[in-house]
Amino acid sequence: MQKYILSLDSGTTSNRAILFSHSGEIAGMAQQEFEQVYPRPGWVEHRPHDIWETQLKVAREVLEKQKVSPSEVAGIGITNQRETTLVWNRETGEPVYNAIVWQDRRTASICDELKSRGLENTFAKKTGLVLDAYFSGTKIKWILDNVEGVREQALAGKLAFGTVDTWLIWKLTGGKLHITDVTNASRTLLFNIHTLQWDDELLEILGVPKQMLPNVKPSSEIYGNTDKDILGEEIPVAGIAGDQQAALFGQMCSGEGMVKNTYGTGCFVVMNTGSKPIASKHNLLTTIAWQVGGKTTYALEGSIFIGGAVVQWLRDQLGIIKSSGEIEELALEVDDSDGVSFVPGFVGLGAPHWDQYAAGTITGLSRGTNKAHIARAALEAIALQSMEVIETMVKDSGISLHELRVDGGAVVNNLLMQIQADAIATDVVRPKVTETTALGAAYLAGLATGFWESMEEVKKQWQVDRRFQPAENRDAFKKVIANWRKAVERSKGWYE
Ligand code: G3P
Repeated sequence: MQKYILSLDSGTTSNRAILFSHSGEIAGMAQQEFEQVYPRPGWVEHRPHDIWETQLKVAREVLEKQKVSPSEVAGIGITNQRETTLVWNRETGEPVYNAIVWQDRRTASICDELKSRGLENTFAKKTGLVLDAYFSGTKIKWILDNVEGVREQALAGKLAFGTVDTWLIWKLTGGKLHITDVTNASRTLLFNIHTLQWDDELLEILGVPKQMLPNVKPSSEIYGNTDKDILGEEIPVAGIAGDQQAALFGQMCSGEGMVKNTYGTGCFVVMNTGSKPIASKHNLLTTIAWQVGGKTTYALEGSIFIGGAVVQWLRDQLGIIKSSGEIEELALEVDDSDGVSFVPGFVGLGAPHWDQYAAGTITGLSRGTNKAHIARAALEAIALQSMEVIETMVKDSGISLHELRVDGGAVVNNLLMQIQADAIATDVVRPKVTETTALGAAYLAGLATGFWESMEEVKKQWQVDRRFQPAENRDAFKKVIANWRKAVERSKGWYE
């Protein structure tokens, strides 16, 4: 009897494997961090073998720990850090370079050059994206231009490009499948989100040979089986979605206008906009939410590069907390941030500013400023960046927000959730299962294999843990917001 779906959640700093039961509850989880490689300032890489080996290890570990036989697993759903770019040799399976991570800024000048040729609109119209180093297209170009011999091999059809989902599926199936799904494809700068095809004009502009690209599939479908040797039995791989889209699905934001925010390394606010793509007038991204049952659903997204990572920075770089969990207690030592604003532009600023040259900035320091004020300003920064994106989203879509569904590691922080509700003057709703990224991938796989029968069935599983309501009097917070807007302007353009 098949009792579980196995979700493989391949994130920016760690890989996880989570088993979900039929009632959508977590039946077991294993997690392992892997090394971040920083060869130069602004560059961020992962070793492809680290991604695969830690993912495989946690998949095996969770089955062993829970004493689950692979034959009890109805299907595997994959969800992943998006945009991160890998290129490998089809025959040997060997990568030609490390994975270039979404946070990596080395291609900022390529983006500038494309902008100076007036190509911003061409990319925006077709892909829904802005020209920023964040996306895969310029990262592939960098590998082709800078790694010796690679362009020739790519032209000869010997190389494969993939985002992390593609790499994992290639490995899981012993090199049989070279595929991705529409959500991951929509983050490459190469995929036309209207025709749902790789776009020849964009491939030409970026000089990417079409023969490197994976086949693009729906987000929920039985694509093929894992190789028997990988987990002991063949298991169908049946769901793929980029992690933010998977979280939107796991939050059951299935209706138009529903919005979630995931507080991970970054923060990603995503709104379901239904069957039609809405072009943003204010620098948000138009992206594909999922393709399920032959229907494509679109979304508006605001990508914030540093969210929870600001807490890690306070822990690892400043050393003012020993564990991330301590930030709440420290920030509660003071009633407010006392005029301090903290703009965590460590890797530039994402939506809605898109400034590749911004720097991290702390403003409003005085003799009385202490570490608790800095901690509180860091939490406010997470909430205020999200607020700016939500304000923009409401303008773009014309849809007003009823509630914000939240998930990701940092949502256990009640103070942060309350600050978020105060900042957006809207209810913030935390569900019982906050592992919604993994859950979304599980749902996609489970719907394809018949483990769950319908969206209606899975929708019933979503339950509220706690609702945070905004304070009635927003006067004090208005000052925090005004300071924040000034501080953001100071952080912009620093490295230009
Ligand atoms: O676009 C980048 C995003 O997919 C990364 O997600 O959860 O690894 O911070 P995460």
